[in-house]
Amino acid sequence: MVWQSVAKLSEIPASGLFKYETGSTEILIIKSGEKLFATSLRCTHENDDLSNGTLEDGKLVCSFHYASFNPSTGDVLSAPDDGGDVKPLKTYSIKVDNGEVMVDI
Ligand code: FES
Repeated sequence: MVWQSVAKLSEIPASGLFKYETGSTEILIIKSGEKLFATSLRCTHENDDLSNGTLEDGKLVCSFHYASFNPSTGDVLSAPDDGGDVKPLKTYSIKVDNGEVMVDI
């Protein structure tokens, strides 16, 4: 595990969702209010890119079939609208150091 700079805090868009990719690693940075979280990027239902999703009342919602996740724990909060199987997201430790968003990858 290595702390890696993934973005400047000022680069996180208003949507609160920012995609970081390096090599085979894909991470979703989530800014919900003043809180930051990091999860795996791909929805565990059908692999959709969760940076295309939305934050609704603090929940991360997939844009494809609307499964929702807890950004802090990765836990599934609601199933996809087609009733398919979905698993929790992987989560990572995240911090801000001198304006740089750092993730323990
Ligand atoms: S791909 Fe995310 S809910 Fe289906």
